[in-house]
Amino acid sequence: MSKQTFARLPGFRDFLPEDLAFREHILGAWRRVSALYGFQEYDGPPLELLDLYVEKSGEEIVGQLYHFQDKGDRKVALRPEMTPSLARILGERHRSMPKPIRWFSVPQLFRYERQQKGRLREHFQWNVDVIGEEGVGADVEVIAVALDGLRDLGLGHDDVYARVSDRRLLTAVLLAIGVEKERLPAAFVVIDKMERAPPDHSLDRLQAEVGLDEGRARSTLELLNQSGRGGLDGVKGEFGELEAVAVELERMEEYFGSLEAMGFASYVEFDLRIVRGLAYYTGIVFEIFDRKGELRSICGGGRYDRLLELVGGDPLPAVGFGMGDVVLGELLRALDLAPSVAPKVDYFIVIIGEEHRKLAQAIAHAQREKGAGVQYSLREQPVRKQFTAAGNAGAREVIVLGPDEVARDCAVLRNMDSGEEREVPLKELQ
Ligand code: HAM
Repeated sequence: MSKQTFARLPGFRDFLPEDLAFREHILGAWRRVSALYGFQEYDGPPLELLDLYVEKSGEEIVGQLYHFQDKGDRKVALRPEMTPSLARILGERHRSMPKPIRWFSVPQLFRYERQQKGRLREHFQWNVDVIGEEGVGADVEVIAVALDGLRDLGLGHDDVYARVSDRRLLTAVLLAIGVEKERLPAAFVVIDKMERAPPDHSLDRLQAEVGLDEGRARSTLELLNQSGRGGLDGVKGEFGELEAVAVELERMEEYFGSLEAMGFASYVEFDLRIVRGLAYYTGIVFEIFDRKGELRSICGGGRYDRLLELVGGDPLPAVGFGMGDVVLGELLRALDLAPSVAPKVDYFIVIIGEEHRKLAQAIAHAQREKGAGVQYSLREQPVRKQFTAAGNAGAREVIVLGPDEVARDCAVLRNMDSGEEREVPLKELQ
């Protein structure tokens, strides 16, 4: 009979103990920081009705769905993101809950993407959302959690930064430039893609698809390419007199002012080129990148005030983000910020005479009851091999059950680092 072998599916990961420890290191930081901000953890099912995503998530994600018809003829999809599930879960159930609702989740998500650096077909994603608060204070709180999550993992402003825009501001600016209302979606698409496209290509599209003349298309690109304080001042200088723009600028100033008060000024930059591909965003949007610009985005989020209504619930304002473990893991490894994950136990019991195996098992059990980690060889082995196994297990101390010591109701404890030995009565170990 020929032996069949099974390869892992492309874009999926096995988590060997050291990989799982690294994943838990990341998820641990996310959970810790969520708690510091008073967010509560929730989850939903990994499988949802396909329609929950179609027309709500945006073309890119919908094109990447894992979907099929189940045995009850329902069209279902593996969740590619958490936000539509959150909107569905809260739909009407939010009514009995005090607002704002502060929830977080760490789901595994599935997208049939072209596999590339930083993009897999499954990933774990930290989702933090505030629901039921329309004020800019919620936007501030949400990006602050994201940045603190990264700081908890050892990343600083030299390693990561957030690029922030506001779709309402971009809309007001585009209308002021002369873009017709119906052409706004087309303009958003061009701007979303402009960084990855050659400049001439964006210039052509702004004329052909958005209807700007060459001069205006050129000055629009120039304005959009100015980021940071200069970018904000540029918009103010050119369009700040217009009431529609001034209102939006005021909100941006308040947002950046709050982040400065929280100590995040060096982590955030205004940048109108951040649009976000997802269809449901309605206000401030942001993405977090590595400073060197070598990796894809670590995190993305923003305000989505109409999604709950779109999935059949009550209209409720909402803001949140998703941060994946894949790009973040690559960055932490590149910066040597991955923790050491060597195995560890408190004791390894070395059995010298096989007649003392049951004594070893009794000691192991008693120590485990007290919360100490214990291992011993599962079958008769030479002492030298048992000491090697103790080293591999990362034992802090070895308990040696030598015949002479056991005859005197004692055992020898050896510290594996210092080599120091001391005799201990067996009754203290059992
Ligand atoms: P997203 O921009 O699609 O947003 O994903 C957020 C983050 O998840 C990305 O920045 C990236 O780190 C990670 N990510 C996405 N796709 C993959 C992939 N195929 N492989 C590895 N990592 C990936 C959302 O999903 C929104 N639902 C976030 C949100 C929550 N907005 C409001 N609340």
